[in-house]
Amino acid sequence: MAFVPIYPLLFFFFFLVLTSSQMPFYANAQTYKNVSLGSSLIAQNNINSFWASPSAEFAFGFQQIQKDGFLLAIWFNKIPEKTIVWSANGNDLVPTGSKFELTIDGQLLLKTPTGQQIWKADSSNATGVAYAAMLDTGNFVLANNGSINLWETFKQPTDTILPTQPFVEGDTIFSRYNETKYSEGKFLISFRGGDLVLFTRHSASDVDKFYVWDTAAANGTELIFNISGSIYLAAKDGSIASMLSPNNISTKDFYQRAVIDYDGAFRHYVYPKSSTSSEGRPLGWSILSAVPSNICLLGREDRGVGPCGFNSYCTYDQRATCHCPGGYSFIDPDDVAKGCKQDFVSQSCNKESPETDLFHYSKMPNGDWGYSDYEHFENVTEDYCWQSCLEDCICVAVMFRQGGVCFKKKPPLSNGRMDPSIDGTILVKVRKDNSTISPRNSVSKKNNSSTLILVGSILLSSSVFVNCLLLLVTFLVGRSYNKIRKEIQEQSIFPGMGLQSYTYEDIKKVTNDFSEEIGSGAFGTVFKGVLTSDHGKLVAVKRFNSMVAESDVEFKTEVSAIDRTNHRNLVKLLGFCNEEQHRLLVYEFMSNGSLESFLFGVSRINWYSRIQIASEAAKGLLYLHDGCSTQIIHCDIKPQNILLDDKFTAKISDFGLAKLLKTDQTRTTTGIRGTKGYVAPEWFSNQPITVKVDVYSFGILLLELICGRRNVEAEAGDENEIILADWAYECYTERKLELLVKDDKEAMEDLKRVEKLVKIAIWCIQDDPSLRPTMKNVKQMMEGIVEVPIPPDPSSA
Ligand SMILES: *[C@@H]1O[C@H](CO)[C@@H](O)[C@H](O)[C@H]1NC(C)=O
Ligand SMILES: *[C@@H]1O[C@H](CO)[C@@H](O)[C@H](O)[C@H]1NC(C)=O
Ligand SMILES: *[C@@H]1O[C@H](CO)[C@@H](O)[C@H](O)[C@H]1NC(C)=O
Ligand SMILES: *[C@@H]1O[C@H](CO)[C@@H](O)[C@H](O)[C@H]1NC(C)=O
Ligand SMILES: *[C@@H]1O[C@H](CO)[C@@H](O)[C@H](O)[C@H]1NC(C)=O
Ligand SMILES: *[C@@H]1O[C@H](CO)[C@@H](O)[C@H](O)[C@H]1NC(C)=O
Ligand SMILES: *[C@@H]1O[C@H](CO)[C@@H](O)[C@H](O)[C@H]1NC(C)=O
Ligand SMILES: *[C@@H]1O[C@H](CO)[C@@H](O)[C@H](O)[C@H]1NC(C)=O
Ligand SMILES: *[C@@H]1O[C@H](CO)[C@@H](O)[C@H](O)[C@H]1NC(C)=O
Repeated sequence: MAFVPIYPLLFFFFFLVLTSSQMPFYANAQTYKNVSLGSSLIAQNNINSFWASPSAEFAFGFQQIQKDGFLLAIWFNKIPEKTIVWSANGNDLVPTGSKFELTIDGQLLLKTPTGQQIWKADSSNATGVAYAAMLDTGNFVLANNGSINLWETFKQPTDTILPTQPFVEGDTIFSRYNETKYSEGKFLISFRGGDLVLFTRHSASDVDKFYVWDTAAANGTELIFNISGSIYLAAKDGSIASMLSPNNISTKDFYQRAVIDYDGAFRHYVYPKSSTSSEGRPLGWSILSAVPSNICLLGREDRGVGPCGFNSYCTYDQRATCHCPGGYSFIDPDDVAKGCKQDFVSQSCNKESPETDLFHYSKMPNGDWGYSDYEHFENVTEDYCWQSCLEDCICVAVMFRQGGVCFKKKPPLSNGRMDPSIDGTILVKVRKDNSTISPRNSVSKKNNSSTLILVGSILLSSSVFVNCLLLLVTFLVGRSYNKIRKEIQEQSIFPGMGLQSYTYEDIKKVTNDFSEEIGSGAFGTVFKGVLTSDHGKLVAVKRFNSMVAESDVEFKTEVSAIDRTNHRNLVKLLGFCNEEQHRLLVYEFMSNGSLESFLFGVSRINWYSRIQIASEAAKGLLYLHDGCSTQIIHCDIKPQNILLDDKFTAKISDFGLAKLLKTDQTRTTTGIRGTKGYVAPEWFSNQPITVKVDVYSFGILLLELICGRRNVEAEAGDENEIILADWAYECYTERKLELLVKDDKEAMEDLKRVEKLVKIAIWCIQDDPSLRPTMKNVKQMMEGIVEVPIPPDPSSA
């Protein structure tokens, strides 16, 4: 869209009066001439004060932006919009009577009527200035008597690049604040490391990388915007490194500009110079191309940045627009990017008055706040989804997806967007009648009732306490002191858990004297067992080869850490044996064994089951990393350690063992945990071992799941195919992903998802652990809540 001045009518009026005989229009303008030293322009109400270029297509001078606010600028002068392409004092408009001067010694100065200097061209190196000139390209220059440019606006761009204007390594353009405010806004594009990088800005010094144009092709030396309307990154030899806007549209017939707009997108605009040569394009500015194509869909989890602020959402139609959901309104209606605020008193978290009947929802189809999730359910109805939010005072909205997936959102809602590509409906929690409850009233009410509850609970709990004491005393009478001491001790280690402690004799019976071995690994051997005491329930008993001396307490602490993990995608620990040198763990039995046999064996499971397993393994791992009281690093994620129950639900096994078996904390090659092919490179260097080692192994596992083959296949047909990770990256960069799944019909028909998963996997196997996503990011990317950025070469770090 075009720039609309606050006083468009005035401009337009002059335009109408004067277009036919353009010359007299330039009251203060020295057209077709060089600007000589000592010339000046004065900002005056309703009088245009500028120097035009020879063709009069561009002008340099004062443009009136507000009632008493002038901008020293360059603009397209022959069109009614007077679209600004460069400005000097966007942060600091000047009043009527301000003066712009080309001094006798060749300086460019902008001063207020009181003589205060507002702006000065940084032309300290420009010696021998002979004149200034507004050129037909839109470049305003200071030149010497040999017509060499000593200073030029083309080298000091603001938010716009014009055809022929150079843009090279180190150059930056800033978006303006909003449509009518020319100060620096929250986005900037910088030419860095051979590529264009879009940053968002929280303050002058606090910027975040937001979007990179084309990492794979990055090696440009210059951004070219040529006179036939192509915009591209050129490599050193002049070849095209990356095309941004491919066109054949001449500057003879069209005005053109490329701008970083205030919503963060970089757009190429054209404007027909006359209706006869418009080639069917609308009169007025129209967009030829925009990158990123929909900026609403980008986001950053940690900062909640994007074109719109917290609690708002973004829609995209040619450009981003910010909106507030029902029940919310703009914090500053004049500045919608500041976000939205609740128009009602938040739900009470008081258990006694949950206020569930006082709230309803406003519905937002195809919407999401991608980074505000804190809980999610599957296989639920929309009604269940909503109820779970209604009953949870922290929840401010839910997203419900067809198929029964439900995400609960916490405040502040960040990176909101509404777009047809989003599969899901948002229900925003809104108080039904907000006018009747004033915040003050409800606070004092809350205080009263919480005092009551406090008193009540003291009474109640003290009586419960007395009862317990009585019970305990009765209980103690019949028991020997020693036995009780042991029990209390055990209870304190396994508080409230159903974990069974077995004697070695018990275990021998359960496993029929270790008769049926079902697996073995580096840690030990696994036997099948039957709990006759528990209706013949099947169990798997893990016997460790050599448990290096751990103290009793340490063993129990670790076992209890494992025991406290309780997740659908983790194999459940049922009991343990800790007797003399015998240390065994008893797990639930997984009837389908390990993933290995289904992935690499004769009967490979199908594409959709493989995706499902990948997603379940990710959830289990996320839980180990984030979901339990002690963070657990698995250290040995591989198909052998993903077990499948009778319904083919994937469950991670052998977690917590790394810590349990801490034989050697120094990192010699022999001390490396994990399995060749799945271990992260930091095991071999001096970097700390973090949860990111599991992310790496997960990445390899994910590739194996996608391709249905092992990460190393020495007999692969082609040498390139031996190492799966390398081959997958090659196929990805060469856009030949179909090679990875060529004999899998279902996957071949689902190549978009193949690509997404391969991209995720490549992120996971980055050599640099800090580049790898967290399992939370992985899960969000797999679920499509977050887009997957283009991954770099895993070994580039
Ligand atoms: C002035 O010239 C010096 C030396 O050539 C250079 O380092 C400096 O960047 C120049 N300053 C400007 C504003 O061009
Ligand atoms: C501007 O001045 C330079 C040097 O004095 C001269 O070469 C050039 O022709 C002048 N341009 C115009 C349009 O007068
Ligand atoms: C241009 O300027 C230089 C010094 O800056 C001077 O020596 C030369 O004579 C000038 N040439 C013309 C044509 O004025
Ligand atoms: C970038 O260009 C240089 C030389 O022009 C070349 O050596 C290098 O390999 C290129 N890098 C990429 C990533 O293309
Ligand atoms: C502009 O760039 C495009 C793409 O490289 C090219 O096809 C076209 O010929 C160029 N135009 C001019 C005038 O150089
Ligand atoms: C570009 O367009 C012009 C006419 O508009 C045409 O003559 C020319 O062949 C075109 N060039 C290319 C490379 O398509
Ligand atoms: C809440 O009250 C304000 C005024 O107090 C009103 O403007 C707003 O529309 C109300 N919101 C709802 C959801 O009723
Ligand atoms: C731009 O921002 C200013 C101040 O923040 C505000 O007064 C003005 O209304 C905004 N303009 C638009 C078009 O939003
Ligand atoms: C959802 O429910 C259906 C039918 O009850 C079942 O087949 C499916 O496995 C369930 N999915 C999940 C993820 O629990």
